Amino acid sequence: MKIVTFDTYEEMSSYAADIYEQQLKDKPDSVLGLATGSTPIGLYKELIKRNSQGRISFKDCITYNLDEYCGISPENEQSYKYFMNHNLFDYTDFKKENLHIPNAYDGNYEQAGRQYDAQIAASGGIDLQLLGIGLNGHIGFNEPADFFTKETHVVNLTENTIEANSRFFDDIKDVPTKAVTMGMYSIMTAKKILMVINGEKKYNIFKEATEGKITPSCPATILQLHPDVIVLYSKI
Ligand code: PGA
Repeated sequence: MKIVTFDTYEEMSSYAADIYEQQLKDKPDSVLGLATGSTPIGLYKELIKRNSQGRISFKDCITYNLDEYCGISPENEQSYKYFMNHNLFDYTDFKKENLHIPNAYDGNYEQAGRQYDAQIAASGGIDLQLLGIGLNGHIGFNEPADFFTKETHVVNLTENTIEANSRFFDDIKDVPTKAVTMGMYSIMTAKKILMVINGEKKYNIFKEATEGKITPSCPATILQLHPDVIVLYSKI
């Protein structure tokens, strides 16, 4: 596990974008595992800039997002689909048909989860997986538990996560209580993993994830077992 710390969020975001630039140089048709949340926004802005400058192209990339809230329509601005369109996809040369987000709106989510894993496998697996981390150590929406869940699955969000995500909603009562998330298998079989962490309040979980005992009660600790992980942390 490689750990790099930064003085500012901007420096961290630019360093993260360098990793994408290198990845796309090495493999222009990379399969990218993408994440939502506030931390990747600086990275996405930098990727949009570099894409518009012609430094990088996503036209041959395939993407798989980590997770999606249950029961929120993809057009709803709280959906992660909306987030991805408005923070990255709409301003870059990704091809719409190559973009995947777990179906958590209609149909059988469990079945949709299995299909999602099959699609990832059919794409050759994820080359570069982007992760944030929750204050409780979740990655994607793999919440602290007694065991690591492997497949894409439905989760009940913890109170801690609902509280943390309520900042994006008018009322905490509007925060969905369930989500569909990629499981540990898809995350851990990614060839390379990039985790971005920002803010003083995430310092303790950053330390626990990178140095603590490996346990499903802090899901991010499992990353210590992956052969190619880079963790970026900026205090401000
Ligand atoms: P944040 O959250 O990037 O919005 O801080 C990440 C997460 O909870 O996974």
